[in-house]
Amino acid sequence: MKLDGEIALVTGGSRGIGRACAIALGQAGAEVIVNYVSSPDKAEEVCGIIRKAGGKASSVKFDVGNPAEIDSALGAILKEKKRIGILVNNAGIAHDGLMMRYALEDWDRVLNTNLRGAFLVSQAVVRGMMKERKGSIIHMSSIVGVTGNPGQAAYCAAKAGLIGLTKSMAKELASRNIRVNSVAPGYIQTDMTDALTADQKTAVLSHIPLGRVGTPEEIAHAVVFLASAASNYITGQCLMVDGGMGM
Ligand SMILES: NC(=O)c1ccc[n+]([C@@H]2O[C@H](COP(=O)([O-])OP(=O)(O)OC[C@H]3O[C@@H](n4cnc5c(N)ncnc54)[C@H](OP(=O)(O)O)[C@@H]3O)[C@@H](O)[C@H]2O)c1
Repeated sequence: MKLDGEIALVTGGSRGIGRACAIALGQAGAEVIVNYVSSPDKAEEVCGIIRKAGGKASSVKFDVGNPAEIDSALGAILKEKKRIGILVNNAGIAHDGLMMRYALEDWDRVLNTNLRGAFLVSQAVVRGMMKERKGSIIHMSSIVGVTGNPGQAAYCAAKAGLIGLTKSMAKELASRNIRVNSVAPGYIQTDMTDALTADQKTAVLSHIPLGRVGTPEEIAHAVVFLASAASNYITGQCLMVDGGMGM
């Protein structure tokens, strides 16, 4: 699964799953652009790991929910690099609460980052892919986008929305040889899941057939596969990487 000569953008590449994706894409030979919004040091650390292994990487700050920031940051990058061939729309936030009492501003914030962000960054990147007639876009969905989850209505709606976005984009862009897929992680050890209580973690574990939480690297392996020519005949799919949790 070699990615030599490719340029990959990973949104939210500074921590967790995005960090692992950026490092794995770099290891596979891609030049990696690591996006972040609040952790410049962590994004630079990821770039340092990629460079130390002989790869090329740079970090870029923008809020995926902010079209002006995306245009300015990616406009400059695309002027220099011409084309980003691999896009991993990974940036995401969770904010849990029962829907009856869920604040509208929290709904907007969760949808804005997880769903609208993926749409906006895709729009900015897809033109270059269309010109080259080549590209792979991977949206980071979630198992709960397929199953739903009490207390996560906004997050689940956003993640389910990404699966619909994946299929529509895949159909629109297939004739230009641009593939669009999503990955639906189960329960993965990151800052996001560290926020769960011990009781919540035990309850989740009891539903995982493989009997353990997943690692960010295990998600990154799936992303590299979907980014590479090894998956050339796969588009519009949502790949569950969840230890069997969603069966
Ligand atoms: N962990 C899981 O079990 C799990 C399961 C299913 C799906 N997912 C999905 O996988 C993705 C990564 O999750 P994670 O667990 O790795 O989360 P995480 O550890 O909390 O990291 C979130 C990443 O997203 C970035 N980010 C957040 N808001 C952003 C914004 N507005 N603009 C740009 N970047 C932004 C953060 O950047 P800064 O560091 O700069 O703040 C950080 O790099 C998310 O989409 C999440 O929904 C996670």
